[in-house]
Amino acid sequence: MTAERRLEGRVALITGAASGNGRAIALRYAAEGAAVVCADLVPNPIAGGWEDSATTHDLINEQGGRATFVECDVTDGAQVAAAVATATDSYGGLDITVANAGISPMAYSIVDEPFEDYKQVQAVNQDGVWWTCRESARAMIEQGRGGRIVTLASIAGITGVQTGYHYNMSKGAVVQITRTLAIELAPHSITVNAICPGYVRTSMTRNLWDDPAKLARLQATTPLPRLGEAEDIAGAAYFLASDDAAWMTGVIMPVDGGFSAI
Ligand SMILES: NC(=O)c1ccc[n+]([C@@H]2O[C@H](COP(=O)([O-])OP(=O)(O)OC[C@H]3O[C@@H](n4cnc5c(N)ncnc54)[C@H](O)[C@@H]3O)[C@@H](O)[C@H]2O)c1
Repeated sequence: MTAERRLEGRVALITGAASGNGRAIALRYAAEGAAVVCADLVPNPIAGGWEDSATTHDLINEQGGRATFVECDVTDGAQVAAAVATATDSYGGLDITVANAGISPMAYSIVDEPFEDYKQVQAVNQDGVWWTCRESARAMIEQGRGGRIVTLASIAGITGVQTGYHYNMSKGAVVQITRTLAIELAPHSITVNAICPGYVRTSMTRNLWDDPAKLARLQATTPLPRLGEAEDIAGAAYFLASDDAAWMTGVIMPVDGGFSAI
């Protein structure tokens, strides 16, 4: 990883920063000089994932960066507002928000998908992104210095994949809030773009990685000769936050090893 510190002086809020893609994005932003507010249900990575037990904000601070953990359930608007306030109060503003927190329970057939599971996925993946985008937009508009919002959608939001109706519908919603918000916030020089990851090795997909037959099927649908790492998503999130992406907004960007090209 090359750290050119091109995010020096910027303040970033990342939801779901304790594990997986959010953790990799937080580490990358911090290495590039940003102060990072790590928002999550708990500070520690999800048990049974791939990370060691160190918290993201501790890792950043130990490496000489600036990071704070804030306990935040993205389904609760007041907690999201408090996370945004942590950025503005502790670091003097909010320049970048990554609406990353998400869940993906077991995939079901629609004939037996429990309604409660469906509602819970919408609450986190859809309502949570709505709260995160809304509270961030309010703060960014008020401070009047532009901004970047990056949402985490999925290939499941742009193609038909068998990961569950609840998940795919929620990610389609993330795609649409991204496009719509990009138009509304453009006059404020706030860009809004979505990353659509393919199959990435995080705790969310641990059950797939633990099953050689499933893993082989995923690889067969991915043209590049490896599946994704959280750092691949962090690289895209860094680009979208950097000056090089200043004139990009409303873009739904697959980062998927070529999955969606088929
Ligand atoms: N891993 C993949 O293959 C993949 C593919 C496509 C999209 N994505 C998306 O990437 C994003 C991150 O997923 P990941 O793979 O890193 O998963 P992960 O399970 O490793 O991490 C998700 C993080 O979100 C947090 N979180 C869950 N519910 C929350 C809530 N209500 N409030 C705040 N935080 C909450 C968890 O505690 C965890 O730290 C998600 O939006 C996911 O849908 C992942």
